[in-house]
Amino acid sequence: MSEKAQLIIEGKTIELPIVMGTENEKAIDISSLRGSTGYITIDPGYKNTGATSSAITFLDGEKGILRYRGYSIEDLAEKSSFLEVSYLLIYGELPNKPELEAFQKEITHHTLIHEDIKNILEGFPSNSHPMGVLSSLVSSLTAFYPESLDPNRSADEVDLSIKRLLAKIPTMAAWAFKNEIGHPANYPDNALNYCSNFLKMMFSVPSEKYDVDPVIANALDKLLILHADHEQNCSTSTVRIVGSSHASLYASIAAGISALWGPLHGGANQSVIEMLEGIQADGGDVKKYMDKAKDKNDSFRLMGFGHRVYKNFDPRATIIKKAADDVLEKLGVNDPILEIAKGLEVIALKDPYFVERKLYPNVDFYSGIIYRAIGIPTSMFTVMFTLGRLPGWIAQWKEMRENKEPIGRPRQVYTGNNLRRFKTVSER
Ligand code: ACO
Repeated sequence: MSEKAQLIIEGKTIELPIVMGTENEKAIDISSLRGSTGYITIDPGYKNTGATSSAITFLDGEKGILRYRGYSIEDLAEKSSFLEVSYLLIYGELPNKPELEAFQKEITHHTLIHEDIKNILEGFPSNSHPMGVLSSLVSSLTAFYPESLDPNRSADEVDLSIKRLLAKIPTMAAWAFKNEIGHPANYPDNALNYCSNFLKMMFSVPSEKYDVDPVIANALDKLLILHADHEQNCSTSTVRIVGSSHASLYASIAAGISALWGPLHGGANQSVIEMLEGIQADGGDVKKYMDKAKDKNDSFRLMGFGHRVYKNFDPRATIIKKAADDVLEKLGVNDPILEIAKGLEVIALKDPYFVERKLYPNVDFYSGIIYRAIGIPTSMFTVMFTLGRLPGWIAQWKEMRENKEPIGRPRQVYTGNNLRRFKTVSER
């Protein structure tokens, strides 16, 4: 595009290239600004900064659109499987039948993890939060596969690291949970599909027969699809920026897991349920908590409401809300927490505070309700998000590497002291 933006600084007019995306997303390329003017731009929280160009995920927060590689999230959630979506995100196209079968076979083949990982697990106190454990275990894969340390190795070797990670993360996640509750870890069952295998490792105990409920496995598969990528969010940007230093895939993903953990990001699903339980324990007065959320002197926020990008509705929330209703009905679950959630939603959608600030339920308002219904403990909610987001992180890491992006290194405006004369201790 030949059009330029003009910026007048200190009486001088600077021309800056305009960049246009395939969905007409417009950006001003300011990469030459400092060199030509000495100025940088300031944008705390990167609310208005495009850190990269990416061909993976498109989202339009105003219109509530989310697409992976051009396919709508609605179609993918209804018609595909999580492994199909993982393939799409990582390799750019939907797999044909032989490609999908080969991919499923390879992922299944690598599900087992090294026995020494058990020693690492045993080193954690038994009530450790599984997100911290998972991040550490993912990082520890660099020790078991030292060749993964160098992301500049051949494409085939990098691909093997990718498949290993996708295959092993359900095992590590389930083992982190077993560690939390002090139960023996279960080995993967390669006769089962991705989600069923995970559920069996999570819930089966040696003394009882465990059959995976297909309703639960399907609901989980859909949830993972909905979380699979979300362009340049906090954890994905973390993965890209860590990877930009040529740190290994496993180190970059371990950092992404830590970024996802926080309650303002992936940790929101855990916080939603804790908030709903708190409201229930306090007598179920929904209005009282709405007032707290609106009170600027009160730090309480309505967890699961609001989103940095979606300012009309979160398309994932629409799909998941319906899925939550279906699952609860099929499983015959009657959860009082759900009534509180519905009560909050009804009030918030009409309340001027929430309407004016465009605060709508996000995906995590409902995901916790489904996880709870299918028996996933609250401390594992953010781990479930991690399982879902993994292919997106991998795809973004791979794209960043293939595009040979430079190391991520923002600038700052310094606001500290000017040069001071050093005083020795006796002078101070
Ligand atoms: N409850 C009450 N007020 C809120 C909420 C909330 N959940 N979210 C935002 N606001 C208010 C803010 O106080 C602010 O009000 P003001 O303009 O009067 O000062 C205004 O809405 C804008 O909020 P910001 O924090 O500036 O919006 P931002 O885009 O930075 O934050 C975020 C987005 C972090 C998601 C925020 O809405 C929030 O904290 N939500 C609750 C946590 C949550 O559900 N996170 C999950 C996000 S989805 C995901 O990561 C998968």
